[in-house]
Amino acid sequence: MRPEIAEAVALLKGGELVAFPTETVYGLGADAANPVAVAKIFAAKGRPADHPLIVHLPSVEHMARWAIDVPDEAERLAAAFWPGPLTLILKRRANVPDAVTGGQDTVGLRVPNHPLALELLAAFDGGIAAPSANRFGRISPTTAAHVREELGSRVPLILDGGACPVGIESTILDLSRGKPVLLRPGAIGAADIARVIGRAPEMAAPHVDEPRGDEKETPRGEGNETPRVSGSLEAHYAPRTPLQLVSSDGLLFALRDALVAGERVAVLAPTAQAISHDLVAWRQVPADPAGCAHDLYASLRELDALDCARILVQKPPAGEAWLAVNDRLQRAAAGSGEDDET
Ligand code: TXA
Ligand code: MG
Repeated sequence: MRPEIAEAVALLKGGELVAFPTETVYGLGADAANPVAVAKIFAAKGRPADHPLIVHLPSVEHMARWAIDVPDEAERLAAAFWPGPLTLILKRRANVPDAVTGGQDTVGLRVPNHPLALELLAAFDGGIAAPSANRFGRISPTTAAHVREELGSRVPLILDGGACPVGIESTILDLSRGKPVLLRPGAIGAADIARVIGRAPEMAAPHVDEPRGDEKETPRGEGNETPRVSGSLEAHYAPRTPLQLVSSDGLLFALRDALVAGERVAVLAPTAQAISHDLVAWRQVPADPAGCAHDLYASLRELDALDCARILVQKPPAGEAWLAVNDRLQRAAAGSGEDDET
């Protein structure tokens, strides 16, 4: 075993945290079977403890150790997309700690498609609970340096696997209620899912704090207003600088207004820099959805660090292919410009 993997496994077995790369974003991992270790994740992130975590597995064979009543559709989707950026919400086994599930009767599972994550998981030979390795409500990290910026000494070891290839968080599909519900869009789209299971998932309503208010049977006690998916909170994936989504025409008007006001302004757009000016910081993103997703968080993080008055983002096209990127941008716009107490 490579020394860094051995060190990571020793830390996890000892109840400590390890940050590691996945194909989507970096995760902040702990032994999912150890509630004391899992509690350290919430402390390091500054995240409310009733938010459920995704359990990362070495292989599909581990699914039955965490979930019961696994529907045939879950087996088929796992066979088709694991390892890969798809999280399945399934009925939990009784042994899954409440610290992982936020006390819910379900658990989120996925096998990540990243060589370093798979090497770590195989060596650990168990489930690793891991949210994105950012402070709560902030932009997810897609490089080891981002994790260091976010968490610093709060995490004893960061495995460095370079930039994450996908760049935005996994698709989350709830299969625990008889019908498939898409809780968070990601690189694997509704059409990809429908091709495998023969029916399209229902879409959880976007940008509401409670995506599925029609459920009566799930006891939530105190956590009545707690969203099932923290990614459904508006104030998520947010830069500190106010972020404004604008059309391509609107971009030039907004730029002009900012410059007239003497404001320093950042721009994220699929086109090359249109205006050369001391007060304008321009970052070009690829014009295709996968390329844009790959660069999105790193670009927002860079622009956020410039302390501009605002970040103007040219709105991507509508439609299925852009759903996940648009989702993240809308949340970033809604939650931007707030202080650390989100
Ligand atoms: O791509 C990803 O999914 C990354 C990498 C590290 O795997 N992880 C990630 O974790 O984005 P996190 O915690 O930032 O977001 C996971 C989302 C949360 O919004 C959480 O509420 C939801 O998954 N989730 C986890 N378990 C759930 C459950 N049992 N029911 C509903 N939602 C759940
Ligand atoms: Mg997150």
